[in-house]
Amino acid sequence: MRTYYCGELRTSTIGETVTLYGWVDRRRDHGGVVFLDMRDRAGIVQIVSDPERTPNSYPTAEDVRNEYVIKVSGRVSQRPQDSINPNLPTGEVEVYAEQMEVLNAVRQQLPFQIASEEADAVRENIRLKYRYLDLRRDRLNQNLHLRHQVVKAIRRFLEDEEAFTEVETPILTRSTPEGARDYLVPSRVNPGKWFALPQSPQLFKQLLMVSGFDRYYQIARCFRDEDLRADRQPEFTQLDMEMSFLSEDEIIDLNERLICHIFKTVKGIDLPRPFPRLTYNEAMSRYGTDRPDTRFGLELVQVSDIVQDSGFKVFSEAVKSGGLVKALPIPGGNEQISNVRIKPGGDLFKEAAAAGAKGLAYMRVREGMEIDTIGAIKDNLSEEQKQELLRRTKAQPGHLLLFGAGDAVTVNKSLDRVRQALGEELDLIDKEAMNLLWVTEFPMFEWNPEEKRLESLHHPFTAPNPDDLDDLKTARAQAYDLVYNGIEIGGGSLRIYQRKVQEQVFEAIGLSLEAAQEQFGFLLDALEYGTPPHGGIAYGLDRLVMLLAGEDSIRDVIAFPKTQQASCLLTEAPSNVDEKQLKELYVVSTYDPEME
Ligand code: AMO
Repeated sequence: MRTYYCGELRTSTIGETVTLYGWVDRRRDHGGVVFLDMRDRAGIVQIVSDPERTPNSYPTAEDVRNEYVIKVSGRVSQRPQDSINPNLPTGEVEVYAEQMEVLNAVRQQLPFQIASEEADAVRENIRLKYRYLDLRRDRLNQNLHLRHQVVKAIRRFLEDEEAFTEVETPILTRSTPEGARDYLVPSRVNPGKWFALPQSPQLFKQLLMVSGFDRYYQIARCFRDEDLRADRQPEFTQLDMEMSFLSEDEIIDLNERLICHIFKTVKGIDLPRPFPRLTYNEAMSRYGTDRPDTRFGLELVQVSDIVQDSGFKVFSEAVKSGGLVKALPIPGGNEQISNVRIKPGGDLFKEAAAAGAKGLAYMRVREGMEIDTIGAIKDNLSEEQKQELLRRTKAQPGHLLLFGAGDAVTVNKSLDRVRQALGEELDLIDKEAMNLLWVTEFPMFEWNPEEKRLESLHHPFTAPNPDDLDDLKTARAQAYDLVYNGIEIGGGSLRIYQRKVQEQVFEAIGLSLEAAQEQFGFLLDALEYGTPPHGGIAYGLDRLVMLLAGEDSIRDVIAFPKTQQASCLLTEAPSNVDEKQLKELYVVSTYDPEME
């Protein structure tokens, strides 16, 4: 019988005879005495076996190797003063192994050394293939425990303090539009028909409000077939919430209390409340993005009006064709950033070009406010315009001003990329900071140039601001995102609860009444049976845990994640299936490897 976990032994257990089960983390042989670091889920403790004091266990201790599973019984002793390890919670004690039994050996060469610090540097593909070994490592182990603590804190707060009920919603369902491709599942019993895996439980949670649940939450698995990045997985977990009869401010307030509760419980941190809020327009104008990292300055400055009548065509034409010109002032940038980096081929140029910019114009402010700039600006901007640029951007000697000119999307995207790259490079980011902020008043729609139609910025169930109903196309939405150090960790909105408004929104995104009825008839109908005003939010749980764990990728906080190619290296999913299965499903593959 196990009496303790390895990681639980302390000076208070000295003298006790204990039985432990676990893995050999490391084995060291010191002149005939064997020392084992023995590991289980609670931590590591030192086991000692020597031929004189513990002759029973010594032959086994000599034989065991890293990652063997063993059972050890022995007395807990005080470690000699010179071998105390202050870095381990069990560092003052050791266990003399009176008995040691190998429960299972390692029979193949380990693909990497689990206990070694170097395991972090092992190629991720190898770690993912042997994920069960990777998860033995302290770092990943702690991440998953942290994840568990976060979920526990969420449940305690929502259930015990705010009377939320958890309700499960279907995984085999109809497509819910959240902007990504669906994962589809063919139905055998309904030939030719398909389920979609939910991109979110959005419609079901709204229907639960119609049913009168009032406060719903779910730790919900969501599926999206989209381009993957460090903070995106094809299947991920949301903390999904919906509430009836609350205003936007009340929902935001409740959510701030929830987030503060999580930070306090798992990190002991008191976050200041209320969190700052920025409107979408303000965020775009000052940072060029709707998820600004406010841990550092380098704010963008609108200068279209100053340069619109200048002779520098890149500027004036950008404004004339409906675009804009913005500056990114960089204090000290004069010294730190060379022209080579801004000109074609340079790294900052490439950063901007990756977002579609054709180039980066610049001005350097020298001692005595002398301006050093490209010929086109020198020759084509009046002295007054140049001075006004310096005033508007609050430039001082040593400043470098970078300019973006063109359509708003490209200018904002490119300067945002350059700003972020410089924030990192110039070490402007306070790594200890935890900047949470709400972005509010998103537009209802954005233009999709490929499909030549308006698209919902959040999803088509988001309610428009009642002040903007006269022109739905330019209306602001009652939507809010929570941003944490530049990463969107959650988003939600008040919902449409009147059929007429819902139909108008469908129409605005180019969905005919018939198509809307065909796809969302069940929702439109439900809106007619006494739907309460309601709203909600969903958090990317993986992202939240990633940030709390100080990791850079959500793969490090998910037990069995997928690769960037949306596959599982451990189980080799997705995989081929039997022809017979496909036949039963009436599915024929048109895939031809030759076509690749
Ligand atoms: P949204 O699409 O903004 O809203 O998603 C909510 C949050 O989920 C996280 N997230 C992801 N995390 C990992 N991998 C992904 N592929 C991924 N996609 C999204 C983000 C995001 O903020 N139904 C609405 C919510 C609502 O209106 O209540 C929704 O799903 O952190």
